[in-house]
Amino acid sequence: MAIVELERQGGVAVLRMNNPPVNALGHALRVDLEKHLNEALADPAVKAIVLTGTGRFFSAGADISEFSLGVREPHLQPMIGRIEGSDKPMVAAINGTALGGGLELSLGCHYRVVGKDVRQLGLPEITLGILPGAGGTQRLPRLVGVEQALQMITTGAFIDAVKAAKIGLVDKVADGDVVAEAVAFARGQIGNPPRRVGAIVIDKASIPAGLFDKARASVGRHPSGPVAPNAAIDAVEAATLPVAEGSALERKAFVETNSSPYARALQYKFFAERQAANLPGIGPNVRLRDIKTVGILGAGTMGTGISLAFLNAGFPVTVVETAQEALDKGVARIKETLEANAKRGRITEAQANDRFAKLTPSLKMEDLAQADLIIEAVFENLALKKEIFAKLDKIAKPGGIIATNTSTLDVNAIAAETKRPQDVLGLHFFSPANIMRLLEIVRAEKTAPDVMATAMAIAKKIGKVGVQAGVCDGFVGNRMLHAYTSEVYAMLLEGAMPREIDGAMEAWGMAMGPLAVGDLAGLDVSYRIRQERKLTGEAAQFARIPDKIVEMGRHGQKTGAGFYRYDADRKRQVDPEIEALIRAEAEGLQIKQRHVPAEEIVERCLLRLANEGAKILEEGIALRASDCDTMYLNGYGFPGWRGGPMWQVDNVIGMKAAAEKIKAYEAKYGARWRIAPLIERLSKEGGTFAALDKSRRAG
Ligand code: CAA
Ligand code: NAI
Repeated sequence: MAIVELERQGGVAVLRMNNPPVNALGHALRVDLEKHLNEALADPAVKAIVLTGTGRFFSAGADISEFSLGVREPHLQPMIGRIEGSDKPMVAAINGTALGGGLELSLGCHYRVVGKDVRQLGLPEITLGILPGAGGTQRLPRLVGVEQALQMITTGAFIDAVKAAKIGLVDKVADGDVVAEAVAFARGQIGNPPRRVGAIVIDKASIPAGLFDKARASVGRHPSGPVAPNAAIDAVEAATLPVAEGSALERKAFVETNSSPYARALQYKFFAERQAANLPGIGPNVRLRDIKTVGILGAGTMGTGISLAFLNAGFPVTVVETAQEALDKGVARIKETLEANAKRGRITEAQANDRFAKLTPSLKMEDLAQADLIIEAVFENLALKKEIFAKLDKIAKPGGIIATNTSTLDVNAIAAETKRPQDVLGLHFFSPANIMRLLEIVRAEKTAPDVMATAMAIAKKIGKVGVQAGVCDGFVGNRMLHAYTSEVYAMLLEGAMPREIDGAMEAWGMAMGPLAVGDLAGLDVSYRIRQERKLTGEAAQFARIPDKIVEMGRHGQKTGAGFYRYDADRKRQVDPEIEALIRAEAEGLQIKQRHVPAEEIVERCLLRLANEGAKILEEGIALRASDCDTMYLNGYGFPGWRGGPMWQVDNVIGMKAAAEKIKAYEAKYGARWRIAPLIERLSKEGGTFAALDKSRRAG
């Protein structure tokens, strides 16, 4: 089948794009579209033209993989100009998702008819570090107003058919066959002057005063970094100019933003997240297990968050606790969160009620007998988890999946308590589990391939990014985190104060500095782990400051103090008492403190993360370097526009320079900086993590 087909329905030509999986506007599609468009425009028998897509997609926009290679002609922007310039009525029949260049194609048409169930209409380019490059910044404001367009373009948010009709983005919502209704609509326009969106003149008086200044002032910590958001605001502001002028400005800004490292990083993130779902040796033909109902054991911090994640995705959830009081507390927390979401307008009240109605609280583990997936989230204690898994083995239905949310324990040992280790795996959620996007899927020695594939599919269903990890202490994410925090503690002793470390990392782009994160998560959690491990040597030395802080009763935000003091609205304040404690500890260890520059703080944090990532990769615990990055981007507040620690080594620091720096740190600080053999090898071969990932894919 051709990528674009031309079908004649009387005097109306229907151009249908068919480029699976998402109708991306790649080179071949553009060539075909231009050919058929020319044919329809030139044919006097064609009186009107309808443009549509196939299946779930009108078009997901430009083919993102072309951006790093250079987009070849024919370009979309002039094609859209020709569509708009046509004297024959042009109607977009938006049968499904229309994003980026896809939506821009429809904006070039004189009218838009949309299917009533379409949910994804938007200009998400900002999430790729660019701005709409085919007229979107010029036509959307003309159609829906500058304020609304600015909001859509700077957030990349999607809207549905109903909202699109409300704001004037579409002319008609089709109840039935969208193409048939668009053809009828087009027939009705034959002979009328075309309504060209680009010809609409925006009344400057309609733009709220200070709108653009306010927008510029708020882009400080935009998830797309410092370049694209400002360029997008400038381009929308230019929509008050004649369309040709504004479009030229948009084009220039598109090229500039797309050549920034931030665009490369964000586009890498897009593909890395999707790549993570590919499990080697598990093809698309593996039959997934049917997951209709979910059971959660434990209604503490994680159990309630995980319950919410599944309730929000429409799953019925049974949550089991040991005591009525703990159960009531957990259920109340779930209810409060749903109500708060309704109050904030994120969901309707009816949705909140429906979701809560799907929750069954219980004190009996036997009530999990019907669950297709059981997730254990009780205290972090191996003996307890083993006991629970032995019991679950007797209770769970045959073929049911049993998961543990452990963050440190041996999933193989837990699975061995059952007679069905093939059905057991780790599902490591991050706190708050209903919000954080990362789901680390821990594949134990005996976990069956269909269980892995099912877990990956479930991750997607509940809106998470699933990434496979093997069994080791800390799996992938927390093992890398451990290296990072150990360096942070070392730097405290050397003389970097918490405000300097967090300040440096936050100025670089991290959502939160590492010590502020510790205060948020609770310092007592890692304290307990350290106590159990009975640290010695350097590790014991590094633990002294955080241990003392916990022993002072400062467990972080929840106790009003940790590395910082917190006021009533949880705003952090530098605490001279902690700075004095850090100095005293260093003195006790006879460490002469010095000023540690911000660049050094960032470099040491990044290199420790990447060096540990490389070790994990070499051990086969992580499948790909891009998986390590995907974890950091989705679970640890690493900014998307910085690509992740592995991407930084490949693209910013350089493999060779990274190896040299790590070796220099090793010479200075010793074993904790031992270079990952993989980095050493790649630096000698002139290799990169990306090339390694690619060769493994090919192999
Ligand atoms: N370009 C290239 N490949 C794309 C793509 C695109 N725009 N959109 C999706 N794909 C690929 C994915 O990489 C994935 O490939 P694999 O199966 O090989 O991993 C496949 O299509 C399916 O994608 P998803 O798994 O994401 O499918 P989904 O159904 O969950 O989501 C979607 C569909 C909402 C469209 C989502 O894919 C998405 O958000 N895509 C990107 C949309 C976008 O950002 N468009 C703007 C592009 S930039 C632009 O258009 C600039 C311009 O002005 C011209
Ligand atoms: P928590 O202490 O808040 O909750 C644990 C709950 O389990 C308690 O309510 C307790 O009453 C209940 N429980 C204990 N034994 C039980 C049993 N036999 N049956 C049913 N319920 C039982 O602990 P939290 O923080 O929710 O942690 C749970 C698990 O999740 C741990 O394994 C932890 O390591 C892991 N985890 C925690 C994260 C966090 O940030 N808190 C992040 C990721 C994983």
